[in-house]
Amino acid sequence: MSTLLTLTLNGRKREDAVPDNMLLVDYLREAAGLTGTKIGCDGGECGACTILVDGAPRHACLTLAAACQGREVETIESLSRGGRMSVLQKAFHEKLGAQCGFCTPGMVMAAKGLLRDNPNPDEATIRQGMAANICRCTGYVKIIDAVQEAARELGE
Ligand code: FES
Ligand code: FES
Repeated sequence: MSTLLTLTLNGRKREDAVPDNMLLVDYLREAAGLTGTKIGCDGGECGACTILVDGAPRHACLTLAAACQGREVETIESLSRGGRMSVLQKAFHEKLGAQCGFCTPGMVMAAKGLLRDNPNPDEATIRQGMAANICRCTGYVKIIDAVQEAARELGE
């Protein structure tokens, strides 16, 4: 069985026929061609596939595409404008919050969701808000620094 999925993806309306059992991460990467969203564990453990649904972070590997009917989905591709990095992306770059980069799209989207809810989080709140995202490279300190830097800059 398939569903005619209508959603807003990175600010643009789309309609696609999708199998009822298609995962959102496969829809994004294969149907929409948005390969910035990564597949790490494919089981809800790593956060590499984190995107926003109606502004809230979700694991795209645990979400059915059909469950996004009528919703707004944002991926990492929504952030830059005219080839310029967003404040969050720039902060990750400048604070060395990205090393191999595999976790970075999920980290940035989790941070975006966090800062949307709480524009001025303290370190403990950032750690808690990013707890569903695993990084094998950075030791997390640089990621926390990047989120704090982005919060500072966005608050000015
Ligand atoms: S790929 Fe979705 S949580 Fe790991
Ligand atoms: S930068 Fe390599 S896994 Fe996070």
